[in-house]
Amino acid sequence: MRITIFDSNEELDARAAALIASTVVERPAAVLGLATGSTPVGIYKALIRQASQTKLSFAGVTTYNLDEYVGLPPEHDQSYAYYMKQQLFDHIDIPLEQTHLPNGMATDLAAECVRYDRMLASQPIDLQLLGVGHNGHIGFNEPAEALVGGTHVTDLEPATIAANARFFEREELVPRQAITMGVASILKARQILLVARGADKAQIVKQALTGPISTACPASLLQTHAHVTVMLDKEAGKELMSDDSALHLVYS
Ligand code: F6R
Repeated sequence: MRITIFDSNEELDARAAALIASTVVERPAAVLGLATGSTPVGIYKALIRQASQTKLSFAGVTTYNLDEYVGLPPEHDQSYAYYMKQQLFDHIDIPLEQTHLPNGMATDLAAECVRYDRMLASQPIDLQLLGVGHNGHIGFNEPAEALVGGTHVTDLEPATIAANARFFEREELVPRQAITMGVASILKARQILLVARGADKAQIVKQALTGPISTACPASLLQTHAHVTVMLDKEAGKELMSDDSALHLVYS
């Protein structure tokens, strides 16, 4: 695991975007696993900028998003489908039919999970971008006694609903369920890029990267993956900097 702590968020965004861009340069038909939330916003902006400066084409790229709220149509401004169009897809040359998110409006949610898993099985992810929740969730795999491997419907934890309420007018409007890729699907990605920012993530980042590997902190399972790159701003990395464990920290 290579962990880089950045002095500025701009530099973090540029380096994370450069890693995504280089994946596409190396493999124009790359399969990218994408995330939503606040963490990737600057990364997508930097990626759009880099793609335009270097004339990088996403025409052959396929994307799979980690998750989508149950009950929000793609036109809803808080759906993850809407977010992805706004933040990235509308600004690069990727054909929309090559972009995939779970369909939170499916009448048969179980069948939708099977459909998503079949697609993921046929197109293994080259690079999966991840944020992390304050409770250690990745995708919407919330801490639990046992985690689910494949795509599934999950009940969001009260803490996750509260954290995401900032995007909605009122907390009651935050959906209570989501469809999420499971941890096995996430860990199947060839490479994983985990990004976290802000002092409020410092504790969970330390727990995830240096604590016990436990379903109580789903992000800790990333310790079992052979090719994880972690990019942190200095606030999110502050607990690691004081850590004297044998972490390979790079300061940038
Ligand atoms: C988003 C996702 C979530 C977020 C996490 C952090 O697609 O799967 O796991 O990455 O909740 O969210 P932010 O970035 O808003 O702090």
